[in-house]
Amino acid sequence: MKNIKKKIAIARGDGIGPEVVAEGIKIMKILENFSDYHFEFIETPLGGQVLKDTGTNLPQKSFDQMKNSDAILFGAVGLPDLPLGAAESAISKIRQGLDLYVNLRPIKLYDSLRDKCPLKEEYIQNGINMTIIRENTEGLYAKIGAEVSKDSVINKMIYTRKSVERIIKFGFEYAEKKGHSEIISVDKANLLECSQFWRNIFQDIGKNYKNIKQKNFFIDSFCQWLIREPYSVQTVVTENMFGDIISDEAAYLIGSLGMAASGNICPGKVSMYEPIHGSAPDIAGKGIANPIGTILSVKLMMEESFGDKIYGNLIEKAIELSLELGRTIDILPKNDLRKGKLKTLTTNGMGDLISQHFQTFLKK
Ligand code: NAI
Ligand code: MG
Repeated sequence: MKNIKKKIAIARGDGIGPEVVAEGIKIMKILENFSDYHFEFIETPLGGQVLKDTGTNLPQKSFDQMKNSDAILFGAVGLPDLPLGAAESAISKIRQGLDLYVNLRPIKLYDSLRDKCPLKEEYIQNGINMTIIRENTEGLYAKIGAEVSKDSVINKMIYTRKSVERIIKFGFEYAEKKGHSEIISVDKANLLECSQFWRNIFQDIGKNYKNIKQKNFFIDSFCQWLIREPYSVQTVVTENMFGDIISDEAAYLIGSLGMAASGNICPGKVSMYEPIHGSAPDIAGKGIANPIGTILSVKLMMEESFGDKIYGNLIEKAIELSLELGRTIDILPKNDLRKGKLKTLTTNGMGDLISQHFQTFLKK
């Protein structure tokens, strides 16, 4: 008897989006076979190809079905032959339309990928394991009040107290829940009024969390800190654009952009999970995309939307074990000796290997 029923909206998107989402679904189907979960997968087409076919990058029906689901699994959108942003604005429509104000980005370097980290050992030390929490609905990316004329252009960065307070509170609560001893807020308060507003609120809210050490970094200085002492970074909270930029930098520290997961979260409501990478037109259709960021997004969904840590942990264990046996090319070691011991896997092969281990754990 399947007594935990969840409706999952599937937004495959463009490029490698559909390739990696298929591997995420594979994991969920295994989970369904060996647990009390029953997943109803609902296709919610969106993105560049859908724009070409229907004239909109996010059909109303897809949005409504996402809104009525329990969680959304999203691939990536963007096609190189479309104008910049034409497909991508579907993402902001969902983030704003569903008020997904938290962008949660865990960044963890698995032991077996230490030699894929571009930093020397002395900068990695006991490992990299941080979470970047990015404000996801306001700032420059909300594109409120853009003014374009022939000779000038304005993008307005707008922040409201409500938005800054809720994301910073989420950051502190997350740090507390994870037992982190420190939280870093990233801004540009030496230049921007928006950042001064942000920093004041961070410091005010911080008074309620005296057991968590609080640090403020300017964005430029944090970019160097991220490669200088990444092992010391625990929870980071920052505004929309800064969070976008530092999370790609951080993702490369764990071996590949294809390794990083994210959750677009509205606590207690429908949330959307996606790998942080884009549609990667340079490798689309070749079957070589790394699906681990998407599979880790399923783990995040289990934990954050369904409060289920056990299965999330088993998914992660299956990934760690699989990395010792075979990998997609983006995470193969450069060193030929080590490379020789590992199978080169396709997207599908990587997903199969992880699924096999996951299934073995579930059967125990
Ligand atoms: P990208 O993330 O698609 O690719 C950057 C680089 O990382 C490429 O060399 C790509 O081959 C590699 N890469 C990305 N994911 C990978 C994976 N799973 N396995 C192995 N290698 C991987 O970023 P790019 O090239 O700047 O953008 C391509 C398109 O994606 C653009 O249209 C962009 O706007 C869109 N985009 C969409 C996002 C989304 O849907 N959430 C996020 C970022 C970009
Ligand atoms: Mg990005």
